[in-house]
Amino acid sequence: MLSKIAFFLHLQQMKLVTIIGARPQIIKAAALSRAVRNFSHPVREVIVHTGQHYDPNMSDIFIQELGIPVPDYNLNVGSGSHGKQTAAMLSGIEEILFTEKPDWLVVYGDTNSTLAAAIAGSKIHVPVAHIEAGLRSYNKQMPEEINRILCDHVSTLLFSPTLAGFENLKKEGFKINDAPFSFDNPGIFHCGDLMYDNSLYFAEQAASHSDISEKLQLTTSKYILATIHRNNNTDDPQRLNALLETLSDLAVQNNLRVILPLHPRTRKMMDQFLSISVQEKIKGNHFVIIDPASFFEMIVLEQNAEMVITDSGGVQKEAYYFKKPCIILRPETEWVELVENGCAKVCDADPIKIKSAFTELIQNKLEYPPVFGDGNAAEFILEKLWEHKSNSETRS
Ligand code: UD1
Repeated sequence: MLSKIAFFLHLQQMKLVTIIGARPQIIKAAALSRAVRNFSHPVREVIVHTGQHYDPNMSDIFIQELGIPVPDYNLNVGSGSHGKQTAAMLSGIEEILFTEKPDWLVVYGDTNSTLAAAIAGSKIHVPVAHIEAGLRSYNKQMPEEINRILCDHVSTLLFSPTLAGFENLKKEGFKINDAPFSFDNPGIFHCGDLMYDNSLYFAEQAASHSDISEKLQLTTSKYILATIHRNNNTDDPQRLNALLETLSDLAVQNNLRVILPLHPRTRKMMDQFLSISVQEKIKGNHFVIIDPASFFEMIVLEQNAEMVITDSGGVQKEAYYFKKPCIILRPETEWVELVENGCAKVCDADPIKIKSAFTELIQNKLEYPPVFGDGNAAEFILEKLWEHKSNSETRS
């Protein structure tokens, strides 16, 4: 009798286990959680925080600001080598999946938390829904590229934020299949970007919820917004010194300030690696180093910047949403549309390329045609999860 009730409850309700861990995943999860709260069908979302990011200003502040329910589980894995970190998450997530038996395991992006969850779920036949599927940098030196490829290829539903991502999936052999979807017959969708949903939703509120504009006098003097956190930039003394020196030069030459919200990894590496001359260069008033910015602070910083210079995937996109030119401090980008539309330039850590891109981008009249959907990606994804839940694999 009890199992009959449980069976009917299952038919009426959808249960998601959502994995978050690193800062951008918390941001993406906010859009889906919001859609869950407004959805016309009953959905129970169990949120699992792996603990990959644990500093309050890398994690808690986003959960509070974006109104995400407090995670039901926190694995507290913390930092470590890729192997150690991923293994600890994998075993923790597997245990939770055995307990929770969700209809879908929802994973975001390309971090070690994404990979660990995708392996844990697929091995015990919990269907995986990968949000931000199909993106490729075609550079397997990036841990994220490995994470994306592996995750996509064990997922049952794949949601690509861009057309380029959707085409990449087709190139890798994914077909536009008909339901019922399964591990061996995955469904692929082009749906728009959850981060765009969030930026539209929060853009208006950000200024009134943050005092960063007054604190840093953002409207009275012009500035470059910069972020650097990727390990190939932070852990290589030559690149890190070159990047900071170039930022400082650009600011001085163009009479701008640089505002640099600092990831904890970058802070540690700057303490170890910066040459005396670069330390001197970034001491002036033109160079403003702050703690990692909250989501609202970041929106305000992006909205008012003259230029965004970054090695972050998310910040590149946010620059585009707010119609700001962007210099990408990586050898390539998976957000190819930004470059194709002339609004961003890929410069790696090359001072000459960065400086000439700056001049070109400032002088050109740029246009920002729509790339990331209509702000309703989360609703689309939730509809698809609901529509295909009864087709999800039977779990042992
Ligand atoms: C991770 C993701 C990256 C994403 C980024 C967003 C992977 C492989 N990379 O990179 O794709 O763009 O998150 O921010 O998953 N640290 C702290 N406090 C924290 C978190 C990290 O001090 O709360 C320091 C530690 O020294 C840690 C280092 O930052 O070793 C790197 O953290 P990690 O989570 O391994 O990778 P990220 O660089 O944050």
